[in-house]
Order: sequence, then C-alpha cells, then structure tokens
Amino acid sequence: MITSITGSQFGDEGKGKITDYLSANTDYVVRWSGGANAGHTIQVDNQQYKLKLIPSGVFQNKKVIITGNCIEDPISLEQELNYLAQYDIIPEIYLDTNCVLSLPIHKTVDFNNDKLLNIGTTKSGIGPTVSDFVNRIAIKVTDVVFGTHDEKLKTLIKFHTDYLEEVYEENLKALEILNELPVAFCSRKEIVARLNRAENIIFEGAQGTMLDINHGTYPYCTSTPCISSAIPYVIGIGNLKIDRNIGVFKPYVTRVGNGGFQTEILQGKVKDHLQLVGKEVGTNTGRTRRVGWLDLHDLKYACELNNFTELAVTKLDVLTGLESVGVLDKNKNWWSFNGWQTDITDCKTYESLPPAAYELLDFIEKQLELKISIVSVGPDRKQTIERSL
Ligand code: IMP
Ligand code: MG
Repeated sequence: MITSITGSQFGDEGKGKITDYLSANTDYVVRWSGGANAGHTIQVDNQQYKLKLIPSGVFQNKKVIITGNCIEDPISLEQELNYLAQYDIIPEIYLDTNCVLSLPIHKTVDFNNDKLLNIGTTKSGIGPTVSDFVNRIAIKVTDVVFGTHDEKLKTLIKFHTDYLEEVYEENLKALEILNELPVAFCSRKEIVARLNRAENIIFEGAQGTMLDINHGTYPYCTSTPCISSAIPYVIGIGNLKIDRNIGVFKPYVTRVGNGGFQTEILQGKVKDHLQLVGKEVGTNTGRTRRVGWLDLHDLKYACELNNFTELAVTKLDVLTGLESVGVLDKNKNWWSFNGWQTDITDCKTYESLPPAAYELLDFIEKQLELKISIVSVGPDRKQTIERSL
C-alpha cells in the first residue's frame, strides 16, 4: 500500500498528525520535499513534539527516508536528532546523498532578500539554497561524503559575498556536522531498492499545494514542489502508483507570510476564535497565522492538481462554539452553515458528530466529489476518526 499525505492549502494542515496516525503499519515514512521551513506538530499521549526535517513516522518507531529533493540543513538536523534523543527516540534514517545542503550563508541571504521581496519567508534559507542549486553551485550531501565540499564552498561564498575567512569557517563547520550524524547515506539507487522491497510506504508532504513553486500563488510561495504528482520525479523512481492519495485540509484556512487570501478574516470575534482555539501560531517562526473561511475554489484546484483519491480534515474541533461557519464554494459563491456548541473532541465515529458538523462535511464532499476518510477532532493521535469508505 502506497500512501501520500499532501497539504491542500497553505501548509499547516496537520499532515504530521495524519502521517503519525497512519504510520502504525508502515515500513517507511518518506520525506520528499522542502526543508527546515516546515514545522510538523505531533501529539502522542499528551506529549507534543515538533519536527522540521525528520519524517513524522519516528513516533511509531518507523524507519524513515529523506529523498534527494529535500533541502537539508545539517545544523537543524543535528538539533532535531538531539531533541528526539531527549525522549529516547533514536530514529533509523536513510538520507539520499543527492540532497542539497542549506547553510548559514543561505539564511543570511534569505533574511536580506526578504527585506526587499517581502514574501514573508520563514528565513530558513530555502529560496537561496534552491537558487544555488538551479545555478549549479550548490553543495550536496555527496560532496561532504566524498570530501569535495571544500573548494565548492569557497566558490559558493564568493558567489554571494566578498570572500571572508570567518564566513568560510562558519559554513565549513556546518557542512562537516554531517559526518558526525547517525544517519545512513544512500544513493538514489539504494533508496529506490528499499522502496521497491517495502510493502507499505507513506510519503509525507511538506508545505501545501498553494505554496508549490510551479502551481502555487507565485511569487508568494515556497521554492520547492509540494504536489504529490512530483513524488516519482523528485525521487527518481520510474513507476509509482499511489493507492491512497490523501489531501489534508482544515475546515478553515490559515496562511503565514504574505500573498493573496480571498477568504481572510481581518478582524473580529471569529478571527480571534480561530487563532486562539486553533493555536494558529507558526511552529517554526512563532508568527501568528492569518486566518479565514474555507475556500472550496482553491481546494478544488488542489484536488485537480494532486489527483487526490480521498480527503482528511483536521482541526474540526476548532470550529466548535462558532455561531455560523462561512464557506466559499467552488464557484466562488458564499454559504453560511450553522455552527455547533457540543464538544466533539471525544467523538469516535463519523455518525456521532453533531448534525451541523456532519452537514458541513457533507457539503464539502459533494463540492469536491471526494470522500473524507479521516476526521481529526483534537491534536492527539487518539482524537482521530477513521471512516471506512
Ligand atoms: P520559504 O519556504 O521559507 O521560502 O517561505 C515562503 C512562503 O512559504 C512563506 O509565505 C512561508 O510562510 C511559507 N511557508 C514555508 N514553509 C511553510 C510551512 O511549512 N507551513 C506554512 N507556510 C510555510
Ligand atoms: Mg507546519
């Protein structure tokens, strides 16, 4: 069984939670895009964990693979491994040597560029790293493994700034952290062989469809692909049939950073409610997320681009307590649905949801012509309703 879990909005849809939940019977959880700009939150038995680079399968003790399209930040990866070790989690990680490395210099450039561009990036250096990659001056994991990184680093620094010895030293140190990390370096061929031998695989997306570099809200987007159809290409696996192609969404929309947001709620009680109850603060940057009503026009576009076979809705419980719920439909007409006041965080079945919640989900399914197979009613792994379709 091959499962893909993709964000259908602007990221932060709860992919990490759904990945963790579905990881129980999987051989590998694979991260195939993005970098330390991502922030995945997972809660197990009241303990909350936050990850950026390492796939969310590690909380179910699953082996994880990071494929060659990912942007790896050695400093961040080391911090994350140390963070997990505090909880006695020592993941088995297979890292593709084709990954591009993101260094302190990229963060500096990102920070400076964004003063001019005002995209509102996470300042993790993603844009500048991908630019270097496209410019063919980036340093890959393979360079560090085979010791060819030193000369390349000198060129890279000269490309961005007057050559400074301290900049070189700082970035060299970051690069060489990789040699110390307990990860298995793998070629594309080795990774593909592992995937071909496995029975169950989950591909965990990063960011969301509307942030995709090609099909998102350019230029207010990230610099990497976020759509599931990119998976076989970026991994370099010729044939990949995704059995469960799951689109994850929230029943409202959030966005961090700048760019258009058709259903944004700029002020008032509902805005405060969604931000407060939804704890809509960036995992990575601590920025309060912009919030708005569900946009089915965008969501329909995401379904088309990804060819989803089913949907997972998260944070349904955040809507509890609202008088009414607004929805922009796929033809850009506004609808208003009744809210509900009963706590749904202990609901175990789809049928036990309040009629108003049920009606809202029914409308979404009809508009998108897809079934919702998973409903998340709280942050914990246990607060998940699975529905057999
Ligand atoms: P960058 O990926 O850091 O270059 O940021 C570009 C845009 O994507 C900004 O609007 C970021 O806030 C947004 N972004 C990047 N990664 C994530 C994420 O994981 N969740 C939500 N937004 C993200
Ligand atoms: Mg996030």
